[in-house]
Amino acid sequence: MTVSELKSSFQSAYGKEAEAVYFSPGRVNLIGEHTDYNGGAVFPCALSFGTYLLLAKNDKKAINFKSLNQPEVISLGFDQLTTRLEKSWANYPLGVFAQFIKRGVKIEQGYDILIWGNVPNGAGLSSSAALEVVTAYALNDQLGTGFDRTVLAQIGQKSEHEFALVNCGIMDQFASANGKKDHAIHLNCDTLEFELVPVKLKGVKILISNTHSPHKLDSGAYNERVAQCKTAVEQLNKVRPLKYLAELTEEEFKKIESAITDPIAHKRARHVVGEVQRTSDAVKALKAGNLETFGKLMNASHASLRDDYEVTGPELDAMAEEAWKIDGVIGSRMTGGGFGGCTVSLVKDEAVDTFIKQVGEAYEKRIGIKPEFYVAEIGDGATRLA
Ligand code: GLA
Repeated sequence: MTVSELKSSFQSAYGKEAEAVYFSPGRVNLIGEHTDYNGGAVFPCALSFGTYLLLAKNDKKAINFKSLNQPEVISLGFDQLTTRLEKSWANYPLGVFAQFIKRGVKIEQGYDILIWGNVPNGAGLSSSAALEVVTAYALNDQLGTGFDRTVLAQIGQKSEHEFALVNCGIMDQFASANGKKDHAIHLNCDTLEFELVPVKLKGVKILISNTHSPHKLDSGAYNERVAQCKTAVEQLNKVRPLKYLAELTEEEFKKIESAITDPIAHKRARHVVGEVQRTSDAVKALKAGNLETFGKLMNASHASLRDDYEVTGPELDAMAEEAWKIDGVIGSRMTGGGFGGCTVSLVKDEAVDTFIKQVGEAYEKRIGIKPEFYVAEIGDGATRLA
């Protein structure tokens, strides 16, 4: 939908003109998976698709949430903005209002809000972070609260913890807030220092393959991984003080790994320590223009997420395996939380059509679901469009 079509939808929904239009993108993570809440690095890019938010002030002392993607309309008074709803899509924007209030901001102005997004839901491309960050960006702009982009990302993350009940790391919201066209973000998730690294892929495309797998990242399995990493840290603390798994190099880990007596926690920790190293190596390889090495690290990341972290599943594995068979595929791996969703692949221009045809057919034959493919365009972070 174009901005002018969205404005007409706002007019039909609320019978008046939208006063402002905001946008915040989804993201694809190139490498560095399940490292963010372990104090490690990630390497995502913002996408050109994302979530739009239109609003106008109202004099009803209410915040009205409508989404063109959802049937349900939610109208809340000012005293209802800090309470999670039992089950509603509106928890994502509502959680952001709650975080502003927690930071001492007074909401004394009503707003009519209309939301529309084109990030496929549950595909591991951060449709929820895009919605949280666009809401935070819009409120910050409307209320003149002056929070910087990193704080807006933290507001989104907290909202996800408290209103969506997923104990996520900072990656998705950070990428949505701080993305830059044609750049990937090398983010240290402990210090939140980051570097924008140009992604100049001559003759190569970033291809996203959507498994359309029915099992989405469910908060239970995700929160379980977060807890298992915590167990690993606690057990390692018997032999070495440490806050995050990402503090350990692979060599250091080998020396003390036997302190992790829980075998599951041990596997999870091994993934994290290896993935942190792979991410650092991959960023160096990209900067040196060495895509072959970058691709190999992507493949190794997938294998580790499959064997040690156990977040891939048959659909993501089938998609990656079929991609690895195609000439011209430099690397391919699952991206995002896992358990369904998407893979990300680096594919030579001349192999893109073959990839879509052959991987598409083979995946459908193996899994019985028709996949979808998008050539990723790396876009900018949250912004006001009108
Ligand atoms: C989800 C979370 C992120 C991150 C990824 C895995 O997308 O929201 O914080 O943990 O999974 O890398």
